[in-house]
Amino acid sequence: MMSMEDFIRGIPKAELHLHIEGTFEPELMFAIAGRNNIRLRHKSVEEIRAAYEFTSLQDFLDIYYEGAGILTTEQDFYDLTLAYLRKARSQNVLHSEIFCDPQTHTARGVDFSTVMEGIHRAVTDAAEESGISAKLIICFLRHLDESAAMETLEQALAFKDRIIAVGLDSTEVGHPPSKFRRVFDRARSEGFLTVAHAGEEGPAEYIRQALDLLKVSRIDHGIHCLDDRALTEELARRRIPLTVCPLSNLRLRVIDTMESHPVREMMRSGLMVTINSDDPAYFGGYVNENYLAVATAFGMTKEDIGRLAKNSFTASFLSRQEKDRMTAKVDEYMKQYG
Ligand code: ADE
Ligand code: ZN
Repeated sequence: MMSMEDFIRGIPKAELHLHIEGTFEPELMFAIAGRNNIRLRHKSVEEIRAAYEFTSLQDFLDIYYEGAGILTTEQDFYDLTLAYLRKARSQNVLHSEIFCDPQTHTARGVDFSTVMEGIHRAVTDAAEESGISAKLIICFLRHLDESAAMETLEQALAFKDRIIAVGLDSTEVGHPPSKFRRVFDRARSEGFLTVAHAGEEGPAEYIRQALDLLKVSRIDHGIHCLDDRALTEELARRRIPLTVCPLSNLRLRVIDTMESHPVREMMRSGLMVTINSDDPAYFGGYVNENYLAVATAFGMTKEDIGRLAKNSFTASFLSRQEKDRMTAKVDEYMKQYG
């Protein structure tokens, strides 16, 4: 019989919560820093990896923004994105919805268009190379104010055909979704879909705000929803997807052990759960390692994994037709190996 690891490796899946800046592997950091004449604080790849011991989301973000600060040219964004898409395809990811944080780059004088062009060229080349499809979601940094987000949205308008949705990320506690109500109203009126990180470190109330005020199609993380029963029931009834990132939660100490992760309870509550890697270069695993971590911690069955993989397509921003085509692939795989 096929091992769980091989079963997870082979199953067709989508990834819906992935920060492109969080895929920046130390080897590529050295290569790009070298050609941009940037001196790194660490002397080796090993030294960089050894520094990845995080105590909280903020502790991680400080290091993550430092890494992202190396990215300067269109080629840098191209190389970063192509490397991720190749890795994802090697894990049988057929579709990925990629976050990027434009403000992290524009604040340093990198043009919005440089970021867009580099990512877009890689998405096009990867699709041609392996058939993987990708969509782009730009996130507003919630530790900055709403006017900065609005400026970013204005810049995004010229790239409407390349951006499927806007999101909200960075430091959560103290920066509730309500702070970004007007910019999300504007984004929706311009035709963008909306998502938001909510209930990662923050309370269930932030998930409520993301739903009611930002009118999001998906909640990123959302693991604190179980603290509010009415909210959990509503998320389940409306089939609002939650993009859960188990290794991220463990590495950022949102949970103490994988066995205490709420994902099992979330699935039992009828929620549309998906499994994702968040910032894989920093958290020690891409999407398959995340599936394996929860499968091992909870003794999940192949049926459970099949459901999570199917959810990943159902919860995506693919067209109805594409969703049907992709979920049929999961069904086929289940019939053969499940
Ligand atoms: N930016 C990159 N990863 C993030 C996370 N897990 N939460 C909030 N902002 C992020
Ligand atoms: Zn995230």
